[in-house]
Amino acid sequence: MERLVINGGQPLYGDIDINGAKNAAVAILPATIMASEGKCVIENIPDIEDVNCLERIISELGAEVKVGKNTIEIDSRNLTNTTACTEDVRKMRASYYLDGALLARFKQAKVDLPGGCPIGVRPIDQHIKGFEALGAKVNIEHGAVILKAERLIGANIFFDVVSVGATINVMMAATMAEGVTTLENVAKEPHVVDVANFLNTMGADIKGAGTDVIKVRGVKSLKGCNYSVIPDQIEAGTFMIAAAACGGEVTLTNVIPKHLESISAKLIEAGVTVDEGDDSITIKSTGKLKGVNIKTTPYPGFPTDVQQPMSAMLCVASGRSIITESIWESRFKHLDELKKMGASAKVEGRTAILEGVDKLTGAVVKATDLRAGAAMVIAGLIAEGETEIYNIEHIDRGYPHIEDKFKKLGADIHRIDD
Ligand code: EPZ
Repeated sequence: MERLVINGGQPLYGDIDINGAKNAAVAILPATIMASEGKCVIENIPDIEDVNCLERIISELGAEVKVGKNTIEIDSRNLTNTTACTEDVRKMRASYYLDGALLARFKQAKVDLPGGCPIGVRPIDQHIKGFEALGAKVNIEHGAVILKAERLIGANIFFDVVSVGATINVMMAATMAEGVTTLENVAKEPHVVDVANFLNTMGADIKGAGTDVIKVRGVKSLKGCNYSVIPDQIEAGTFMIAAAACGGEVTLTNVIPKHLESISAKLIEAGVTVDEGDDSITIKSTGKLKGVNIKTTPYPGFPTDVQQPMSAMLCVASGRSIITESIWESRFKHLDELKKMGASAKVEGRTAILEGVDKLTGAVVKATDLRAGAAMVIAGLIAEGETEIYNIEHIDRGYPHIEDKFKKLGADIHRIDD
């Protein structure tokens, strides 16, 4: 079984290039199958397991997929299969974007229900509400979502909750509906905007992505294009926090500092120096930090996906930190692992109370989900002695070559496979 072994206590110094955004890439790849003319060439694709999984799924649907270094070429002109019911589809979350993409182009789809990180109940009622409003019949049978529409017709849809997945999925379906669709109470995350920009580059007519209201004027068809995925806000946030927690000076390149403002603000509050460049950000830290309170909210608030890495840092920040997780109801499982390393944490419902301790000590721990895995890596980097992290397949789903990147910054971290 593969594991990461970390000898903690090294400060981090140097430059690190941030990869393309996982949560944009995993929506853009399914969206490529909407192109009935030409090829899509997608650049700045992160080398992660969720992307590999989607490459297999899309090629099994009948697209021609050529994978290069951080680039994928997808030719979906001859794709006719609208059924995606495989283990790969069931094990990842973003496979649900095939629903919107297939429905838009073929007006039908059968796609197994998605999997993903065990961080709480993950309903898709808002996706279904949107598809139905556009005129699709939606049934769930034998673990698959079955979608069928004679025609898709533009509609006004007000989402009950702010959902990244539902916003992107319904926006994709609406791109080829007849007339205008208005989506209200939508998610504004950078990856939502990136997917809208990609769809527009393919010939869609989408306005307002990044605000509370998105308007989609339906078009008859979409064609292939070249596109480069935005930098990963969450990978960047994770490295910013690691540098802050370990101490040292780290410059992240290929980032959009605007997307990182909520994270920068909390790091500054904790006593870290954050210098923004045009497409870079530098973290300078003594490693001696103050506790801060965090509340996760949809963008532009503090991202839930950075809450777990941040809590690893706050374990050793002086005083009390209170974390309120308002997006997912069970995103604190990593705290039990951090307690094995000496953290003082108490969970009450959606709130975690951390009392800063002087140090963490290395232990054998596991990654209970993707971002929990990143939290354990940060904990291992600051802990005294050796930390072994198991179940790192979760980490590989979303962080490309995490150990190589931290090694480059001076960390003592190795992947061991026995
Ligand atoms: C996306 O998940 C991300 N995943 C998640 O990142 C991220 O935590 C989340 O957005 C929030 O930012 C991908 O992009 C693949 P949501 P998603 O729909 O789209 C409720 C990571 O670590 N909801 O925005 O599934 C839901 O229960 C992953 O990279 C409904 O009630 O999340 C949650 O409370 C983990 N009904 C809230 O909305 C619905 O139909 C936000 O969920 C849909 C969602």
